[in-house]
Amino acid sequence: MDSQGMKELAGVRAADDLVKPGMKLGLGTGSTALYVIRRVGARYAAGELKGLRVFATSFQTELECETLGIPHYALNSPELAGGLDLTIDGADEIDPEQRLVKGGGGALLIEKLAAYNSASYAVVADQGKLVSSLGLRFPVPVEVIPEARNAAAGALEKLGASVKLREALRKAGPVITEHGNLILDILFREAVCPAEMETRINLIPGVVENGFFAGGPLKLKGPLVYIGREDGTVDRLWR
Ligand code: A5P
Repeated sequence: MDSQGMKELAGVRAADDLVKPGMKLGLGTGSTALYVIRRVGARYAAGELKGLRVFATSFQTELECETLGIPHYALNSPELAGGLDLTIDGADEIDPEQRLVKGGGGALLIEKLAAYNSASYAVVADQGKLVSSLGLRFPVPVEVIPEARNAAAGALEKLGASVKLREALRKAGPVITEHGNLILDILFREAVCPAEMETRINLIPGVVENGFFAGGPLKLKGPLVYIGREDGTVDRLWR
């Protein structure tokens, strides 16, 4: 089975196991989260999820919800009142303690807002996302205000990382996030403590958020991780 097949297995299983009628549900971003969204859409259309209220973590997710007719709301709306029952999202890397790197799709700011304001949190991924240490292979994104680009890059290098400004595809210049910021992709030369780094990076002036999801500033609940495997099975990992 290829990685798309594994992503679909994990996404469909999580949407079937975890999503219930009446929930305030955060829906993540990226190619694996898309399988969750589509399954939730199908279940909603079949009348299985009455009273569902969704928070979309990106423009991509919002558009998909619109296409599928899934009711979605702003996090500040009276319907959601700033809190969610459950969020399901993808990840770029998952370590043995189920700590994550996220933000390959540039939506880390709102994805983290959803994650840290959900009573429970689940992650869906293919087995290729499992690593022994975070931040050594897949870059950790750091969202910075444009004015902080050089200063923040220098501070991140002092933390032991190499830094690269994320370039846009099919547009000249850098990626501009949905909040008008830039993304610095960083790779560490040696293994780091993800929770400590999550906190330390956010103390750099001009940093808006970083892609470590390790329970640094708040206690991240869970996550419950669904891993689609090459042999067609799904593992559930829980710390
Ligand atoms: C989006 O910003 C990310 O956090 C995604 O959840 C992450 O990059 C995983 O994406 P895929 O499911 O497309 O691999």
